[in-house]
Amino acid sequence: MKMKYWLLYSCLATTVNVMAEEAKPSSAASPTATPEATQPASPPVAAPPANEAGKKLHDGNCVRCHQSELYTRDTRKMKSYEGVKTQVQWCATQLSIPWFEEEVEQVASYLNSEYYKFEMAATKK
Ligand code: HEC
Repeated sequence: MKMKYWLLYSCLATTVNVMAEEAKPSSAASPTATPEATQPASPPVAAPPANEAGKKLHDGNCVRCHQSELYTRDTRKMKSYEGVKTQVQWCATQLSIPWFEEEVEQVASYLNSEYYKFEMAATKK
């Protein structure tokens, strides 16, 4: 069996799991309000270009399997910005999307600023 198909299959299989999980009645009390209520009301400045590019790349390639709920669900798996980057790279590789490090970074950065909000201390300790 070809490796690539196996990987894609396991990817899809997990997606079905995710969907089943989301369909459980236990999540009926839908937590639309996030706990991060203490966000400062930021002035409407222009979004950084990296996020714009990242959003485009993401919306064009990534929402057919999972919507953004995946990134904010209670059971989300990402624990750090590095983890998000690795996951973006992984999903892109499964899809045979030929993204360079730069694009992966843009998408990860977009997801992070939009949903995950991890500290992006990539280089400094
Ligand atoms: C072929 C279907 C598919 C596509 C298309 C896809 N993904 Fe995924 N993605 C998955 C699966 C399956 C998971 C694992 C869900 C889980 O862990 O329960 C996942 C998980 C993730 C997560 C982690 C979510 C969490 O738990 O916090 C991120 C981030 C992510 N994908 C980003 C992307 C990005 C960026 C793209 C576009 C390149 C993309 N995905 C396209 C199937 C896909």
